[in-house]
Amino acid sequence: MVRNENQAGNSTNSDRTPVVGGPLAYSADGRLEFDGIPVAQLARDYGTPLFVYSAGHIAERLAEFRAGVGGRKHLICYAVKANSNLSLLRLMNAAGVGADIVSGGELFRARKAGIPADRIVFAGVGKSAAEIDEALSADIHMFSVESEAELREISRIAAETKREARISIRVNPDVDAATHPYISTGLKENKFGVPHEEVLALYDLARELPGTEARGIGFHIGSQLLGLDGYRDAAARVRSLLVELRGRGFAIDHLDVGGGLGIQYDDEQPPGMAEYARTMFEAFPEADFPDLTLVFEPGRSIAGNAGVLLTRVLYGKGNAAKHFDIIDAAMNDLIRPALYSAYHQAWPERSERLSETREADLVGPICESGDFLVRGRRLPVLEQGDLVALASAGAYGFVMSSNYNSRPRAAEVLVEAGPDGGQASARVIRRRETYDDLIRGED
Ligand code: LLP
Repeated sequence: MVRNENQAGNSTNSDRTPVVGGPLAYSADGRLEFDGIPVAQLARDYGTPLFVYSAGHIAERLAEFRAGVGGRKHLICYAVKANSNLSLLRLMNAAGVGADIVSGGELFRARKAGIPADRIVFAGVGKSAAEIDEALSADIHMFSVESEAELREISRIAAETKREARISIRVNPDVDAATHPYISTGLKENKFGVPHEEVLALYDLARELPGTEARGIGFHIGSQLLGLDGYRDAAARVRSLLVELRGRGFAIDHLDVGGGLGIQYDDEQPPGMAEYARTMFEAFPEADFPDLTLVFEPGRSIAGNAGVLLTRVLYGKGNAAKHFDIIDAAMNDLIRPALYSAYHQAWPERSERLSETREADLVGPICESGDFLVRGRRLPVLEQGDLVALASAGAYGFVMSSNYNSRPRAAEVLVEAGPDGGQASARVIRRRETYDDLIRGED
């Protein structure tokens, strides 16, 4: 999980196996494979640094989730921010999954991928007038409203253009989701949502305002959550609001429970997808809420462990105190370690490297001391030219990458099983950027 790297100082992944259920595994002769394809082959064919994603893993995660739904009304709106590659969004669409968007750009992507508007929900504290207008034109399913000022703006734009916005108010339930402070969102001190004591007044206002129809209520309490208690607490708070609103005659038939389910990065044991789905439905029993549609916005739990970042060791460098393996991926490719002290397992392409370890950092070529992908861990003794796969890079990896130091962004590759689950094959779903891409639009 997101954690203080210092706490991980003595840990190593060399004595464990790659993320359980993830796409990485060693072949019988000790070569690292991704869904059965040698990573050496992927690196040869597409170069490094390289993001590789598993369509099979994504399908499995969705199937696990659906196993917990038990016939109840629901809408899965994949959080596009986690990984917005068009080909991934097309996979979601083909699987009947909608989109949770937070910008006009994400709306554009979701629509390009063919996701129908009635499966799109729009969150975020700062929707611009242009973005609201675009979403109204597309006739998206619902706006998740985060403040009175935003509600008034949506109403104004909808009324002026004689359209109707279905809205849901995002409640800040003030529960502690016990995650990294940067990705915790359900506490009073966070900028997100409407304080629960102000929520009823906002629905009254929505009833008064033209162009808005209150159809939902929701919350999102944080990300990389490793337990279900925060969800239960938030659900209980929002349930009483929902009951109160229905008592006052509001036709609220959607409950948006946000996203946030955690994944295994190191040795975490997050709740299963099915258990998570079941828990949320249990909080709203069918007997009491027969017509309620639960909206889920999973991002990381779908895409996180579907992807890895494949990189090559450029040079080794050491001093008395420390060894550094300088790799061709950097903080511009995967910023999570630098930004959140996040932990990503590092697996050498040859399993024989695992037999000898040392204290080392994996660092990139960027001119910053913060440019590390792994810091202060016992790592396999690597050699120049070795390939390493950084695990759990499918969510908040490429999407948070940049061109810092004028580094062209990495290519992305999708691995899909053949017909009837046959031999997997890989294809480029975003080509590696060129130097010309770097200056596109500049004068
Ligand atoms: N819904 C809303 C309203 C959100 O704000 C988020 C994530 C999600 C759904 C999806 O959450 P997920 O299921 O992926 O946890 N860059 C950070 C994560 C930021 C998450 C922001 N909001 C990281 O790399 O850990």
